[in-house]
Amino acid sequence: MTRAVPIELKSLRWSVGNLTILHDLSLTIAAGEVVALLGPSGCGKSTLLKLLAGLLQPSAGELWIGDRCVASARHCDAPEQRHLGMVFQDYALWPHMTVAQNVAFPLRMRGVSKSTARLQADAALAQVALADFGDRKPALLSGGQQQRVALARALVAKPAILLFDEPLSNLDRDLRETLVHTMADLLRAAGITAVYVTHDREEASTLADRIVHLAQGRIVSITHLKGNPHAISRVS
Ligand SMILES: Nc1ncnc2c1ncn2[C@@H]1O[C@H](COP(=O)(O)OP(=O)(O)OP(=O)(O)O)[C@@H](O)[C@H]1O
Ligand SMILES: [Mg+2]
Repeated sequence: MTRAVPIELKSLRWSVGNLTILHDLSLTIAAGEVVALLGPSGCGKSTLLKLLAGLLQPSAGELWIGDRCVASARHCDAPEQRHLGMVFQDYALWPHMTVAQNVAFPLRMRGVSKSTARLQADAALAQVALADFGDRKPALLSGGQQQRVALARALVAKPAILLFDEPLSNLDRDLRETLVHTMADLLRAAGITAVYVTHDREEASTLADRIVHLAQGRIVSITHLKGNPHAISRVS
């Protein structure tokens, strides 16, 4: 297992022209901590996740992952340099590949041999209870199953950090309740540092050690759920 790493936002800002979307956010996420970002539509949750992922560059401030400053207004490490996995709302599976090929894809990109990648993909699929689905095409799976494939694909490369953007919002309520527990268990077992975007308070409370409440691009409050003694938080 990869060692979990902390994440630190130091007065992180993101602006488009004169419009500031995220206002100088400061927050420390401890290694292995699960933080939920909760807030209304348009408050900046996905934008913050994209900054963490390296899909956007900050306008000011610094983003640290472990002991490295990965992004500031002057430089920005590419997503693949950050050793993280991402799970989005729309699954984003390749339709022409089988389930196992989808899960093996991040490993193949790193030069892992076909047979080793398949073995590791099968192990990741077993973790999300889809051991028998490897040879199917994603289109033949239900929404909940497809999202579990996306989760297996994010887990397979044993990332230090996992980022989730409303991964369950396309699913019906019963399935959401089951999957949120599956995800909570997997995150705890893997000890991965995770940031989970949602606008569902219940989902956030099930998963997170802390809930960071965002409104209009600012951190307005933080709820401690499990009281991680290593977590330091600052509200700017
Ligand atoms: N490239 C962009 N150019 C201009 N404005 C943008 C850009 N990207 C995001 N925004 C604005 O930033 C704000 C935050 O967007 P973001 O997608 O982060 O919200 P969100 O909290 O994820 O909302 P939702 O819950 O609806 O997904 C919105 O007002 C959005 O219109
Ligand atoms: Mg969003």
